[in-house]
Amino acid sequence: MRISVIGCGYLGAVHAACMAKLGHEVIGIDVDEQKIGALSEARSPFFEPGLDQLLKNVQETGRLSFTLDMAEAEGSGVHFICVGTPQKYGENGADLSHVNAAMEALLPYVRPDDIIVGKSTVPVGTAARLSIILAEHEPRAHLVWNPEFLREGHAVKDTLSPDRLVYGVADGSDDHAAVSVLDEVYAAPLSSGTPRLVTDLPTAELVKAAANSFLATKISFINAMAEVCEAAGADVTRLADAIGMDDRIGRKFLNAGIGFGGGCLPKDIRAFMARAGELGADQALTFLREVDAINMRRRTRVVELTRELCGGSLLGQHITVLGAAFKPESDDVRDSPALSIAAQLQLQGAVVTVTDPKALKNAAKRFPELRYEPDLDSAIGGADALLLLTEWQQYRELDPFDVSSGVAGLRILDGRNVLDADKWRAAGWHYRGLGRP
Ligand code: UGA
Repeated sequence: MRISVIGCGYLGAVHAACMAKLGHEVIGIDVDEQKIGALSEARSPFFEPGLDQLLKNVQETGRLSFTLDMAEAEGSGVHFICVGTPQKYGENGADLSHVNAAMEALLPYVRPDDIIVGKSTVPVGTAARLSIILAEHEPRAHLVWNPEFLREGHAVKDTLSPDRLVYGVADGSDDHAAVSVLDEVYAAPLSSGTPRLVTDLPTAELVKAAANSFLATKISFINAMAEVCEAAGADVTRLADAIGMDDRIGRKFLNAGIGFGGGCLPKDIRAFMARAGELGADQALTFLREVDAINMRRRTRVVELTRELCGGSLLGQHITVLGAAFKPESDDVRDSPALSIAAQLQLQGAVVTVTDPKALKNAAKRFPELRYEPDLDSAIGGADALLLLTEWQQYRELDPFDVSSGVAGLRILDGRNVLDADKWRAAGWHYRGLGRP
């Protein structure tokens, strides 16, 4: 099939490459010259495991190309909208300007029977509004909503073999013309057993908002338990293991630590609250305000714990932060809790050095005032305290004896509860986890 993918960021670039991998002929379109330049040379503009290799493989087949020119979307039967929906400046709601602009730019090239497939995370009601605009322009084309559930760091696998496919269509019926077209797009994952649900448009939009809200709630729940565990002298990691054995609860997303960040969960729960307010259903989601508050409290808690670890004052303390990305296997620093903590420590008088295997360039753009050191040994050298804030494998594997020789003080705060506390203590370190005695 001929497919266009509009928006080539974390979502669109991966989607375009994966659609070509599935055998389709794909044109990726973006307004950002740098992005298109890199992708055209089979280089990913961001770090995502496996993506560079995939881009190279599929570009060699001739099935994938990139352009700045929207006119090249013409002739594709399926157009995926994959642009970003960031939080509006100073407001909780989502900024839909990129979605609106993509739609407006695409309309002149839409032909009868084309389908436009929204993948961006949008407030419920957006698809219905875009359907009206599309119908005014080309009543024989269809708009469907097909939310994306990929995780950064696992994006290629999540796109090639998703755990479910959701198609939102105007009448919510399996017989809708767009359903068979999407079935053809996703023939490969469907044939290997991926479940597929057809819903109406608002349900499909809400599935995404609800999924991310649930994940955020799960993380904040365990972080709230961490607060109680700290007060009671209990261990939240053992508590999570024990409640996670109940398969109604499950152990995944119950890792207490410095909380969630990234370009999705924080802004999605806020946009969801804002939209519910507009719909008169704000009471239903007031709990998400608490989810957000618990999450933000983690960051201040880590600053306080670091102060305690340093003997009561941060002034002049050399602190090395291990990890800048919002999670491992990513160079994304959008709303990264690690960086936010690093910046707060610096503001309070500490001398902060940040290291990360992939995210330092992006981090330096966001917080130019921090010191960045790509070499792990140099970053650790002379530190009064280490803070493990993003659980990259190389930090999980640090050996407390090896590290001891380079630092000025044997103090470590494990912001993700991934180190073996006994091992570090046995090596003479003052170890602090979160929500652990
Ligand atoms: C999230 C969702 O997991 C995806 O399903 C969704 O498609 C995506 O948002 C999106 O809307 O595009 P992502 O932002 O890549 O994916 O990251 P997650 O793996 O969900 O992690 C989010 C944050 O939660 C990270 O900062 C992570 O460190 C933190 N986290 C995760 C915890 O603090 N504890 C946990 O137990 C799990």
